[in-house]
Amino acid sequence: MSEFLNKKAPIGVFDSGLGGLTALKALQEELPNEDYIYFGDTARVPYGGRDKETLARFAADNIALLRSYDVKAILVACGTISSVLLEGIKEEYPIALVGVIESAAAAAAAATRNGKIGIWGTAASIGSGAYARRLAALGYADTVAVPCPKLVPLIESGRTSAEDPMVRQALEEYLEPVLKSGADTLILGCTHYPLLAEAIRAVAGEELVLIDSGKESVVTLRAALEEADLLNEQEQGNTRYIVSGSPEDFARQGGAFLGSDLSGKVEQQDAENLGK
Ligand code: DGL
Repeated sequence: MSEFLNKKAPIGVFDSGLGGLTALKALQEELPNEDYIYFGDTARVPYGGRDKETLARFAADNIALLRSYDVKAILVACGTISSVLLEGIKEEYPIALVGVIESAAAAAAAATRNGKIGIWGTAASIGSGAYARRLAALGYADTVAVPCPKLVPLIESGRTSAEDPMVRQALEEYLEPVLKSGADTLILGCTHYPLLAEAIRAVAGEELVLIDSGKESVVTLRAALEEADLLNEQEQGNTRYIVSGSPEDFARQGGAFLGSDLSGKVEQQDAENLGK
């Protein structure tokens, strides 16, 4: 990282929508002295069915938007961008770009008792094989990877209860191969999925250990900041929320998830047209 970066600069966090809030919530708890700029690309959600070229363009737009706020590091709180492109683009930037794969795989490896691990992710994430490769490198090659394309649209439309027949049907469908394989641990490899944690537990039971890829990413981000001596020493940080779609929808759903009132606090900015 550049020696010119400033400890007092904010940390950028982005996702296609609400999912990255699972990482942000953990960051606000674990690193409360930091300032954060959260960007949710809600006008272009979902990312999970897009091709690599489109995802590369979206990632470049989102990173440029966050860098326009002079962030000192960026948490790519999106399993899809982390899986499909992060390794290939990290070197292009003078600041740390941290993804969600490494820490989630490490947490799953530490949690499993029988060595069998399930992976849920978007179609693009599962297609990339990134989680399975990382687990294999840690000595855990016995994995079952399931693309879950129905989940992000359900979550973004506010449907997260196991009482909702469409939610239950989707969860049963995606859990079936995981439970059949005997996996005792399931990586929620898309940062949106922990918003369904309660519903997943209601369908899968309490035995299956769920790994929250958003929350776990704090470990990697903290390590990167520590190493570069970039942890903020101020008393209490702030968060700015920016979305490309409706600020009102995000304030309502995101506020409910974070347990804080975001009404009137969400700004609207279009990453695609930034600087054009
Ligand atoms: N939350 C993101 C992920 O982790 C994006 C999901 C989507 O937009 O499809 O994959």
